[in-house]
Amino acid sequence: MSKRTCGATALLFPLPTVIVGTEVRGQVNYLTVGYCGMIGGPPSTIAVSIGCQSATYEWIESCAGFSVNIPSSEQVVQTDYVGIVSARETDKSGVFTTFYGEMEGVPLIEECPVSMECRMVQVIRLGDMLACLGEIVQTHVDEECFVGGDIAISRVDPVILSPTEAEYLRVGEVIGPAYEMGESLRRSYE
Ligand SMILES: Cc1cc2nc3c(=O)[nH]c(=O)nc-3n(C[C@H](O)[C@H](O)[C@H](O)COP(=O)(O)O)c2cc1C
Repeated sequence: MSKRTCGATALLFPLPTVIVGTEVRGQVNYLTVGYCGMIGGPPSTIAVSIGCQSATYEWIESCAGFSVNIPSSEQVVQTDYVGIVSARETDKSGVFTTFYGEMEGVPLIEECPVSMECRMVQVIRLGDMLACLGEIVQTHVDEECFVGGDIAISRVDPVILSPTEAEYLRVGEVIGPAYEMGESLRRSYE
């Protein structure tokens, strides 16, 4: 199969579109983040990239924590809005209903089916961006997202970002059970 080289293009996609919440001097702000990932755990840790184009970049290092909220497709317009408008020109605190969990100064979004409160553990400066590592202190999930005891991704209905096409998508169909589908191949190699 012929391949095309694309230079140093980061193609770890699709990405979940998240909304990062911060508070500075009592002012709540939300911004859209596509470059977000799980580091693992314990402790459960998440990384978000905050670019220097954003107002959030100016204060995130001084924050004791931040929230990572997963919007559903119902909130896609508001999600896009907080990603194209800056706190520098507009107060975005009223776009969503804010609630608070265990951490003071970490605003969470009522309308989002999943919200994680994160304690800032490290900020790594990489060129024009800050990689913010947050330890998850508490996770809030809408009751309607549970099927039995499990959180069903289809119920969350997250907004998936295709960074290459600049489009939002929804999660697709189930292919099969994870951690099981390789078993038949394992047996054939034994
Ligand atoms: C889909 C999408 C993904 C984005 N991903 C990021 C990101 O990963 N990191 C980032 O700093 N900005 C990202 N942005 C841009 C910020 O959300 C945007 O600059 C925002 O206006 C910053 O808000 P603030 O100035 O109030 O902090 C994204 C925007 C959109 C629409």
